[in-house]
Amino acid sequence: MKSNVKNPNTVLITGASSGIGEALAVECVKRGVRNIFFCGRDAERVSAVVRKCEAAAECDSGKQLTVLGEVLDVTDEESVRKWLEKCNAIAPLEVVFSNAGIGTGIENAANVRRTFATNVDGNLNVVLPVIEIFRSNKAGGIGSDRRQIVLTASIAGYAPLSTCPAYAATKAAMKSWGLSLRGMLKREGIWVNVICPGFIRSRITDRNTCPMPFFMEADRAAKVMLDRVDRNVGLIAFPWPMRFGVWLMSALPWRVSEFISGILPEKTSSGRCKGRESERIAF
Ligand SMILES: NC(=O)c1ccc[n+]([C@@H]2O[C@H](COP(=O)([O-])OP(=O)(O)OC[C@H]3O[C@@H](n4cnc5c(N)ncnc54)[C@H](OP(=O)(O)O)[C@@H]3O)[C@@H](O)[C@H]2O)c1
Repeated sequence: MKSNVKNPNTVLITGASSGIGEALAVECVKRGVRNIFFCGRDAERVSAVVRKCEAAAECDSGKQLTVLGEVLDVTDEESVRKWLEKCNAIAPLEVVFSNAGIGTGIENAANVRRTFATNVDGNLNVVLPVIEIFRSNKAGGIGSDRRQIVLTASIAGYAPLSTCPAYAATKAAMKSWGLSLRGMLKREGIWVNVICPGFIRSRITDRNTCPMPFFMEADRAAKVMLDRVDRNVGLIAFPWPMRFGVWLMSALPWRVSEFISGILPEKTSSGRCKGRESERIAF
């Protein structure tokens, strides 16, 4: 399914107080999106991104920009639903990026639960009410024909990863759920896209001490994502050498991919890569 639809006026992004989400918000403003709603848990980071979006708009044509940053935890189902409804009442939602996610680095029981709560339940808390909002907007003739949900999974969701089992599992779940939803919702004119980035500069990768091949800056990644979201590409996995590598890992006989997984750099109990403990800040 290819998109011929014009640029959206209204975009909502969860987890846009830093990293990929922040870069998406700023790039959306540069591309002429007029209503940006986003959230994060940290008030200072949220305010800083509001200011960045406003500054990006000033360099633009001078058209009016509404940018609302909300301090919100995506694991709080009721608050998320109310926020989504509030935003939709201000301007009917067109493109929703369910992007908030964490990578804790340390696989203790509390962090495993936190990872699933944020990366799985947090996405359900966003996507399920958005589907209902899109349906009722359509039934009521509200908003444009552009109704699109974009889930941020990861290249880590392609194959088992012994370095981050909980993170890999949550991303595999979101990749599978998103692509399955895509088939289900296209009959209703709702597009679903799954983004699987490789290593992108963000607060998650700032803490990583392991090697990060084909590392990409967040603003460049945001351009790649938005170009492909506008073309309604179902699975947006990049950069291509990483995509090829993980595809190969998942296509190989299990014993071979298990062997390769076994020679990946081991993490210490602090979550840092063995032998590179002092290189960056701990998780
Ligand atoms: N960077 C990479 O290499 C990479 C690769 C593949 C996939 N991803 C995915 O990309 C997404 C964005 O991550 P990032 O790399 O840009 O890292 P990041 O800089 O840490 O950004 C994560 C964003 O999510 C927000 N967030 C985390 N937990 C939240 C919660 N419970 N409620 C609301 N907001 C929450 C954070 O804001 P607060 O801390 O202020 O709440 C922040 O805005 C994640 O889903 C991540 O798994 C990243």
